[in-house]
Parts: sequence; structure tokens; C-alpha cells
Amino acid sequence: MVVMAEAASDAPRRVTILGSTGSVGTQTVDLVARDPDRFPVEALTANRNVDLLARQARQLNARLAVVADPACYAGLKERLSGTGIEAAAGADAVIAAAERPADWVMAAIVGAAGLGPTLAAVRRGAIVAFANKEVLVCAGALMMEEVKAHGATLLPVDSEHSAIYQVFDFERTSSIARLILTASGGPFRSRDRAFMAAATREQAVAHPTWEMGAKISVDSATMMNKGLELIEAHFLFGIPEERIDVLVHPQSVIHSLVEYVDGSVLAQLGTPDMRTPIAYALGWPARIATPAERLDLVKAATLTFEAPDPVRFPALRLARAALQSGGAAPTILSAANEVAVQAFLDRRIGFLDIERIVEETLAALPHRPLSDLAAVRDADADARRDAVGRVTASGAMAVGSR
Ligand SMILES: NC(=O)c1ccc[n+]([C@@H]2O[C@H](COP(=O)([O-])OP(=O)(O)OC[C@H]3O[C@@H](n4cnc5c(N)ncnc54)[C@H](OP(=O)(O)O)[C@@H]3O)[C@@H](O)[C@H]2O)c1
Repeated sequence: MVVMAEAASDAPRRVTILGSTGSVGTQTVDLVARDPDRFPVEALTANRNVDLLARQARQLNARLAVVADPACYAGLKERLSGTGIEAAAGADAVIAAAERPADWVMAAIVGAAGLGPTLAAVRRGAIVAFANKEVLVCAGALMMEEVKAHGATLLPVDSEHSAIYQVFDFERTSSIARLILTASGGPFRSRDRAFMAAATREQAVAHPTWEMGAKISVDSATMMNKGLELIEAHFLFGIPEERIDVLVHPQSVIHSLVEYVDGSVLAQLGTPDMRTPIAYALGWPARIATPAERLDLVKAATLTFEAPDPVRFPALRLARAALQSGGAAPTILSAANEVAVQAFLDRRIGFLDIERIVEETLAALPHRPLSDLAAVRDADADARRDAVGRVTASGAMAVGSR
């Protein structure tokens, strides 16, 4: 019995990587490339980075490579000429890539742009390795309904949710008292608000323990990332918001914890290397080897913990309030945050404007119930429009005050 399960879990698994050129995407490519016979590649997708996408497609002998930006099609086609690898472009082509028959799909696009492609993979009943947290934040309840309806398997890739998944008793959820999400605290963990008000893009993306894409790095600096993760955890594990706590743990060794009603607390530990949670999802239910540095607790020596500071980091409060409010509130939170973070990365607004714009957009728009995906898209579009207006007004204020 055990031997048969081992054999089945070692069988080749055809994979598609959505967002293959990003931080999670490239680390997934790294793992897949170590065992090409076991992980043949169906499709790879990117937004604009045709150089890297074409190199990855050649290296992994993918059947299809897709760029979301149609203007990049000619460049991709040229770089793949003579390889026999199909090239395509456009948002619909990314969705079509997710529809192709891969057993396992890595959802590693950043932001709500991942909603359509992730949904396409879910509707095929695929195993979806899920990094793209904004998708669950903007459409959590509907997405989980789709997962159930189509018999898809959602495997969390966020290190915190992967940790919880590994110690969560799905058979006896009533025995779970609370989830505890750990947070590094980000680059501004011990900085005051005056420092944050003047923080630059470079300071905000310089994460102390994880190397990640620009958007999630800024989210870590505001701690909105933990707010998004709280909402993600609520939908993934079905635990109410008031039983999900956040604990700042700067060393990022304990990736999260589950407390049971008897007082037992189970945790998953490891060095901060995303290849460990990605490999957990890639091999699931088997474990596969990774080159991640082994955890040496003697070397780590001291693990410290502190409560998050709600005054210096209001994003966590905003995310909790959005989840409590329900309906379109998390969709609005995430969309306004995407707009504001991009404006900060483009140096159009200051660091503290991000939380202000999110809070104002949440207050300005109705938190309507989301009956279907069209309602999600409408709420997302309304929030983006509102937040863009606030970014523009902030820019005008900044110019006027100089
Ligand atoms: N990085 C981490 O360690 C980490 C950890 C946990 C969770 N996550 C989550 O995983 C997701 C990806 O994060 P990341 O850090 O890997 O981001 P990233 O480095 O910015 O990569 C994003 C990927 O998505 C593609 N992309 C961007 N906009 C797109 C669009 N409109 N349509 C289609 N593809 C698009 C990018 O293509 P181009 O390269 O062409 O721009 C790239 O391949 C996020 O939701 C993040 O919160 C990340």
C-alpha cells in the first residue's frame, strides 16, 4: 500500500508556470529544471520579460510560451524561432495557457491579473500551487466555491500558509483553536513613522530575510502583506478572522503555527528559502529534495517574538476590518493597495500615502455583496479608478507643496 502510494507520487507530473519570470516563478523553474523527466513543461507565461521567458522555455523544452503584453509578441516569436515552441500573447492567451492539460499549475502572477488564469486552472480540476494571494483576497469565497465544484486541489505556496497546511488537521477542524501567522516585520520593523514618511523605494524593497518581487516587498514593509495573508488564510482554511493572529518573528525560521484546543501548538520551521514551500507543492504528496540551506538551530541560537504594532502598521487593522466587513471590501482593499504600491514604486507618492489611499478608498466605496465574478471585476475596477484619482491628487498636492 505504502509502496504503491510512493510509486504514484513519483509519476511524471506535467507542469505549467504562470508568472515564470518572477521571484516565485524563477524559483519554481529552478526546481523543475533539476528533474525534467519528472516535471515536463506544458506552458510558461510572463508579462513582458521575453528574454528570460524565451530562455526558460528553451531550457525546459516547454510546449508553449506566452506574454501577457501583446506588444511583446514579435520579440518572443523571434527568440523562439526554430525551436518548435509555440508563442502567444495577450491576457486571453495567458488564460488559454492555464487551460492546457497540465497536471500541476503554479499560480505566481502578481496581483488581480492572476484571477482569470488561476480560475481557468481551477476549472480544469488541476492541482494549483497557489502563490498569487491577491486572487483569494479579491474573490476568496467565489474562488473556494469553484475549487470545490471542480474538484481542484489548492496547495498554498506562501511560506506561512504552506506551514499551516502541513500541520493543519483537516479531518478535525473543530480541534483547532487558532492560526498564528508569523511575520518578519519587514524592513521598517523598528523604524518610527517619521522615518517611514520619508522612506524611499530602495529602503522599502530591501527585505531583511526574503528576496521577493517588488510589490510583495513593499507589502511587507507596510505589513499589508500580513493583512492579505490573514484574508488568504481565512478563505484557505475556513477559520474566522478573530481566530487568526499575527506574531512578529524577525528571524523567519518558524513559518507559522496552529494552536489546538488542548493547548498543543504545531509549527513548521525552515530557513527562509521559498524553494522549500514551492517544492512541498511541486512534489505533494511526496517530499522532494531542495538545495535550500538546512536549518541549524544552534547557529540560529535565538528566536524572538513580538506583537505587531497597530499604530506604526495600520495596514493590518485595515485588512481585518475589510474581512469583517465582507462583500467587496477585501476586493477594494487589494485593488487600492495594488494601485498605491505601484504609484509608490513609480515614486509618485510617499510610503505612508499607500495606507492612506487604501483606507480612503475603502471608506469611499460601498462594500456590496459579491454574487459572481462579474461583481468582483466591477468592484476591482471601481476601486482602481478611485485609488488612481487619489494618487493623482497626492501627486498634485506634493507638487503644490514644494
Ligand atoms: N516572491 C516571494 O517570495 C513570494 C512569497 C509568497 C507569495 N508570493 C506571491 O506570489 C505572487 C508573485 O510574487 P513575485 O514576488 O514572484 O512577483 P514578481 O517577481 O513581480 O513576478 C510576477 C510575475 O507575474 C508576471 N506578471 C506581472 N503582471 C502580469 C500581468 N498583468 N499578466 C500576466 N503576468 C503578469 C511577471 O512577468 P514579467 O516578469 O514579465 O513582469 C512575473 O512573471 C504574488 O502574489 C506574491 O504576493 C511571493
